[in-house]
Amino acid sequence: MGKKLVVANWKMHGNMAENKRLLQAYINQLSSLKNTDVVVCVPYPYLAQAQSMLQNTNIAWGAQNLSKDAVGAHTGEVSAAMIKDFGASYVIIGHSERATAYCESDENIATKFVQAQAHGLTPILCVGETLIEREAGVMQMVVGKQLDTIISTYGAAVFAKSVVSYEPIWAIGTGLAASSDQAQSMHEFIRGKVAMLDKEAAASMKILYGGSVNPQNAVQLFVMQDIDGGLVGKCSLNAQEFEQICRVAA
Ligand code: PGA
Repeated sequence: MGKKLVVANWKMHGNMAENKRLLQAYINQLSSLKNTDVVVCVPYPYLAQAQSMLQNTNIAWGAQNLSKDAVGAHTGEVSAAMIKDFGASYVIIGHSERATAYCESDENIATKFVQAQAHGLTPILCVGETLIEREAGVMQMVVGKQLDTIISTYGAAVFAKSVVSYEPIWAIGTGLAASSDQAQSMHEFIRGKVAMLDKEAAASMKILYGGSVNPQNAVQLFVMQDIDGGLVGKCSLNAQEFEQICRVAA
């Protein structure tokens, strides 16, 4: 198992002054962190701020979405190249808050995944089931289908060095995280599915867990064999809690 990865997902939070405080706290508290990669995914308007504060630190930055198109008449969209222009190295793709509220299809998500890679951004692909799907026992089928759209169009090799984040929808922002066994079992399924087609890709991809990660549950989650780190929403807005989560990973 390689280095762990902890990604902050600020969602639609922040302003120049608050971000400055939060990023400075991240920098101060995490500069001595070893063995863990840390990324903060900010709203688009703050990519420049993230770049100016985080360059030459051990913290990378990224965006929370990107356009499936490279360039053109797409009012309101932001391309991979534009994100890259601000020195970003990661981009979240297919977060359930977007998939449901903005009708993002699996096909669009697949296009975004390769669009990100084509521009040197590491995609953080979010997958996960609803509570109804879990209760019906079809969670692996649901997550499998989300991965299949990418695999059937672009092959399993595109998962090499990418990031997949298992985010059960019922665990996001609810305070009710998946248990370490529930998460491990899904992570094992995801890695196994890619490994059946491409062992190297499966070994080099990172699989994060996301959904109500906090400093307490991170202890149980991050020791599991196939959990390579976390995607952290709410607790990433609190520098102390975020630091604690990163220290657990390290
Ligand atoms: P949460 O969000 O940590 O607030 O549950 C995680 C996410 O949506 O990425």
